[in-house]
This record gives sequence, structure tokens and C-alpha cells, in this order.
Amino acid sequence: MDKGIIKLAPSILSADFVHLGQQVAEAERAGADRIHIDVMDGHFVPNLSMGAPIVESLRRATRLPLETHLMISDPDFFLNEFTEAGSDSFLVHWEGNNNLHRTVQRVKALDRRVGVVINPATPAAVLEEILRDVDQVLIMTVNPGFGHQHFIPTMLPKIRRVRLMIDENKPGCDLEVDGGIDATTVPLVVDAGANVLVAGSAIFSEKEGVAAAMKRLRTAANQGTTSSR
Ligand code: DX5
Ligand code: ZN
Repeated sequence: MDKGIIKLAPSILSADFVHLGQQVAEAERAGADRIHIDVMDGHFVPNLSMGAPIVESLRRATRLPLETHLMISDPDFFLNEFTEAGSDSFLVHWEGNNNLHRTVQRVKALDRRVGVVINPATPAAVLEEILRDVDQVLIMTVNPGFGHQHFIPTMLPKIRRVRLMIDENKPGCDLEVDGGIDATTVPLVVDAGANVLVAGSAIFSEKEGVAAAMKRLRTAANQGTTSSR
């Protein structure tokens, strides 16, 4: 993997929704690679967030790819609606999905990018059979459902394991991390092999503003790329 190319995916969960369009535009100007949208149903995770109308509005506010992280019990049911709203990619959880392969194929049939997500207690080994079918893997570095949580350091060896699996079986597959990503944890996850970083509070809740916060994360990512894995 070329460790120099690190992508930033600001998560709007922590954005100021009164100024959502402006905040996303600011993130785009500051070099965001994609916008991460957290969809929660109060059932798969103990929280509610947003649905397809937000994606539809964002579609008019940015040209960046809109990545939709589905933390919902029945992802298949909503794929068409989000695709019509403008989602470019879907992140679907391994947990609770008895037919993950089918869900992945459905996303592909819609001509969208697809990623599989694993929660902190889920071992990397579950990815073995699905890896070749996906464009990205997302390793949750907190338990899903909320922003502003602390990074779980025991996820680092898992990130390293998945990086090896990807390099051996699906080169080019993105390895993304989500949860507690800030200037302190960025060098660690990059060093472990992550190449896409989701960050919510470290981008949208910083007093210094979106652009300065993103610059700080990029600087931290460079520290990770220059150290040895
Ligand atoms: C949590 C979500 C994250 C969340 C991350 O379930 O999947 O995308 O926005 O928030 P921070 O970056 O604040 O940990
Ligand atoms: Zn997320």
C-alpha cells in the first residue's frame, strides 16, 4: 500500500445542522475526500440519526462522494431510497446480517461502491470470504452509535491483520477506521495500515474551525506515514 495517500471522510454526525451545507462545503474546500453519513435506527444501535432526505440535500451541496454508513437492522430495505437520494457508497455491517453476501451483491447491482463494517468485538477473520467482493472494509474503533467516544486501542492489531489480508487478497481495497479518530490516534491507525479516516468531532466540534481541524489531521497522518509499521 502507498502509505502516502490518506483519505479523510468527515462524519457529519457532529456537524452543526443549522449550517450543514456550509460546513460540508468548507470540508470540501479543505480537501475532504468523501462525506460520511451515519444512519441509525434506534434498534441496531441505541441512537437515532438521519435518513435519505439529508443525503438528498447534501447531494445539492457538494460534489464529493457521499458514503452512507448504515447502522440499521434491515439495510436491504433502504438501499434503493438512499441510492435515489444520491448515496455513492454503502457501508453495511457484518453483525446481525444473515445474508451479508446478498446485501453486498444488491449494492453492486445498484452500481454503488460497497464496504463491510465490523464492530470492535468482531474478529477480522469474518472478512475472509467476503473481502474479494467489497471495495472497502471499515473497522469500528468505537462501539457504533455515538460520536465523541474514546478510541479503543486494542483495535490496532486488528487493523494490522486486516491490512495484511487486503494486501494479500484484495489490493486496492480501502481500509477505513471510524470512531475516536483525532490528531493523537491518526498516526497510530495510519501506521497500522488504515488509508481512510472517518472523523466527526475532531473535524466539526473544534473551535478552530473545519479547515484548521482537517489540516491538523493531515499533519498527524503524515507522522503515521513516515514511521514504520
Ligand atoms: C459512530 C459513527 C461515527 C461517528 C464518529 O457510530 O459511526 O462515524 O460520527 O464520531 P467521532 O469521530 O466523534 O468519534
Ligand atoms: Zn460512521
